[in-house]
Amino acid sequence: MSRGGRRKKQAPPAEGAVPVSDRERDLGRILERKIQELSVLQSINEALEKLDGSEQLFRNICEIARHLCGAKTAAYYVYDRDNDALVQHKAVPPEAGIARKTVLRLPPKLRRRVLGERVPFVVDNAADLSAMFAGPVGGERTPRSALVAPFYVRDEYFGVLVLEDKDSGGAYEADDVTYLRMLFKKAGITIENQALYETIYSNLVSTLHSLVSTIEAKDPYTRFHSERVTRLSVLIGKEMGCDEAALETLRFAGSLHDIGKIGVPDTILQKPSGLTKEEFDAIKMHPIVGERILEPLGMLPEEQSIIRHHHERWDGRGYPDGLAGTDIPFLVRIVSLADSYDAMTSDRAYRKGMDHAVAMEEIVRTAGAQFDPNVVLAMRSICKRISNIKMHLGSDKILQMGGVLH
Ligand SMILES: [Fe+2]
Repeated sequence: MSRGGRRKKQAPPAEGAVPVSDRERDLGRILERKIQELSVLQSINEALEKLDGSEQLFRNICEIARHLCGAKTAAYYVYDRDNDALVQHKAVPPEAGIARKTVLRLPPKLRRRVLGERVPFVVDNAADLSAMFAGPVGGERTPRSALVAPFYVRDEYFGVLVLEDKDSGGAYEADDVTYLRMLFKKAGITIENQALYETIYSNLVSTLHSLVSTIEAKDPYTRFHSERVTRLSVLIGKEMGCDEAALETLRFAGSLHDIGKIGVPDTILQKPSGLTKEEFDAIKMHPIVGERILEPLGMLPEEQSIIRHHHERWDGRGYPDGLAGTDIPFLVRIVSLADSYDAMTSDRAYRKGMDHAVAMEEIVRTAGAQFDPNVVLAMRSICKRISNIKMHLGSDKILQMGGVLH
C-alpha cells in the first residue's frame, strides 16, 4: 500500500452541488486520515501476527516499514553493546544489504537523538547522510533522504531501522514518522511476547528433557536410551535422504519419545520380568500419555505421530492404534526401528543385551513384519559403513560427559 496512492486530489464541486463548508472539509480530512491510520494499523497487525520466530520478526519489520513509507530499502541495525556499534542484521530487499557497509555510523548529534528522544526522525542533510553511509562500497551512492527509527523494548536500546530514499524520489514526511512510530509500538509488544514465548518454550523443553533423563536414570539399564535412539534415528534419516526439517523432527521427537513413561509406576517400569496383562496395558499407555503431556507445546503433526506411534508395527500388530504399513508415518518407522535396536542391544536386569550381529539378524528376519523393509535396508547400509555402531552411538560414559551431540 503506497501512501502516495492513497492520497486523492480534491475534486472540484459539481455544478449545483451544495457547497462544502471549511469545517466539513476539515472533518472530512480528519476522517480520511483516521481511516488511513486504521488501515495502516490493520496491516501492521496482520503482518506481525504471521510471525514465526524472532528472525522472521526483524525481516517483517523491515518489509512493513518499507511498504508503509514507500522506501527503496530498509535495513535493521542491531546495537552491539560490546563494540558500541550498529551492525546490519537484516535488509530488504535482500540484495540491498550486500553492497552496503555493514556498520552504520551515526554522527554524534543523530546518536544523541536516538538515545535521547527515542522517536523516528528524518535525515535530509547531505553532510549527515554521507557521514552515516561513509566509505561507499562498489561506487554506491549516498542516499538523498533517510528515515531513522530507534528501536527500544522495555526501555532497552535494541538498534535502529533505517529507510533509504523514497521510491517516489521525494523526501520523507511527518506521516512517515507517524507510521513508523505506530509500527514500532506494536512491534515492541510483539518482540516482548516473542522473547517471552521463546524463553518459556526452551525452558519447558529443557524441563521435559530432564524428565526423560530422570525416568531413564532410575533404571541403570535404560540410561541414555532416548539419546541413543535419537542418534540412530538421525543416522537412518540421513541415509534415507531426509531434509534438515525432518532430521530436526527426529531430534526433537526422538529425544522425547518415551516421555509418557512418567505416567507408568516405577514398580512396573523396573519390574525384572513377568508383567501381568494389566501391567503391560499400563505400559502400553505411555505413547498416549506422552502425546498428552506434549500437547501444549504445539508440536508439528510429524513430531506428534512419533510420540504416539513409535510402538506400531509394519504388520499392524503394534500399539496404540494398530496402524500398518505406510499408514505409519515415515519418520515414525525410523524411530521405531532405532528404538527396538537399542532395546534389543541393551542389557536388562533379567537378561543380557544382544550382540549387534544377533540383533541385526533378528531385525532383518522381521523386516516386513515388525519393521519397514526399506528402513531396515538403510540401517544395514549404515552398519556396513560404521563397523561398531553401538560405540558410535555412544557409551554411557561418553554420553554422560558430552550430553546431546547428534
Ligand atoms: Fe516407548
